[in-house]
Amino acid sequence: MFGQVVSDYNITLLPGDGTGNEVVSEAKKVLDAIQDNSNIGFDFTAIECGGLHYKEHGKEWAEGSFEICRDESDAILLGAIGWPGVRRKNGDLAGGEVVLGLRAGLELYANVRPIKLYEGVSHKVHGKFTKVWDSEKVDLLILRENTEGLYYNTLQRSVKRIKGESFREYPVIDFPELGDEVAWDPRPISRKGTERVVRRAFDYATKRDTSLENKKVTCVDKSNVTKGCQLFRSVFDEISQEFPSISTTHAYVDAFAMWMVRNPEDFDVVVSPNLFGDIITDLGSVLQGGMGMAASGNIGDSHGLFEPVHGSSPKYTGMNKVNPIAAINSAQMMLEWIGNTKGDSDATKAAKILSQCVGEHISTDAILTYDLGGSATTSQVGDAIANRVGSTIRELM
Ligand code: IPM
Ligand code: MN
Repeated sequence: MFGQVVSDYNITLLPGDGTGNEVVSEAKKVLDAIQDNSNIGFDFTAIECGGLHYKEHGKEWAEGSFEICRDESDAILLGAIGWPGVRRKNGDLAGGEVVLGLRAGLELYANVRPIKLYEGVSHKVHGKFTKVWDSEKVDLLILRENTEGLYYNTLQRSVKRIKGESFREYPVIDFPELGDEVAWDPRPISRKGTERVVRRAFDYATKRDTSLENKKVTCVDKSNVTKGCQLFRSVFDEISQEFPSISTTHAYVDAFAMWMVRNPEDFDVVVSPNLFGDIITDLGSVLQGGMGMAASGNIGDSHGLFEPVHGSSPKYTGMNKVNPIAAINSAQMMLEWIGNTKGDSDATKAAKILSQCVGEHISTDAILTYDLGGSATTSQVGDAIANRVGSTIRELM
């Protein structure tokens, strides 16, 4: 039986653009099934936001939305942000206040992206479904630094705009040899920013439940070429001393991209600066069946925002076609995070059950969307997983 304490968590839903709405509905269905069959309670607040909202209303979300996320949410679940051709006048992504503004404004410094291949998943390589990778060989956890690096200016612009503060663009200095038109995204990498994400990576390596005999953290950077990465790597080496039982390796990002595809079993936890993490996690999604399977959590010291890694998929919007599992697994990460940060063992238990149910669903149900070789709709997958979760919780708790 679940404990008697009824906990109510305020969950803010940010469905965002396009298919973000469809997948967040399915994730909510699953959370509803948990709530209906346990003592865990959720109070949902949905906030309209994103590029299309900006196009229609001239604002990315209603005034006060950031504050709801900051002050009144136990956790946040985001769908997808961005719509083709919709940008702010200065060229910024319309919807950036939501995704980048929250990352910077709530100091969600670790973007945590599991790359796990479920048993039974066919992935697409060379345009065909295949089973190139063995599921026991693909179980990585990539942490992407989420508040600085090459995104720094844009992150700061987004958060300052939300707060109504002015933003001083860093002037383009000292590139006279490049002519008079230069666009410059500085890439600051700080000791502070690196320490906190690297420490998180070692924490995950310590606690993560894997079949690996040796726990390992890999630092992925480009320290053969750039100063920022040299600092990143040396801070990584310092922090690693605090975790003597975890082994470490280093890889340059270009070689890592190759090795991750060739020998994914060589990696456990991986930590990388912002843009590199963005790129290698899209590539990594191919190892797990595609973007429809890629979940993530943006984690700070006091807030968590969870989102599928995929975008808004305009071409599939409104078709009830896309895979909701990335969003459902993001909700799973949310529940696990709630369990850990609030010390709620019921939430932890429910998160475990949800993860187990997704695995069972994939290997037994054959109710899968097109990207996994099936023909089920988004909502059929959501219904099937929600039913399975509901009945499993009733049975096991
Ligand atoms: C991601 C996305 C975002 C990013 C976009 C939507 C700003 O690609 O979460 O990976 O680049 O970080
Ligand atoms: Mn991305």
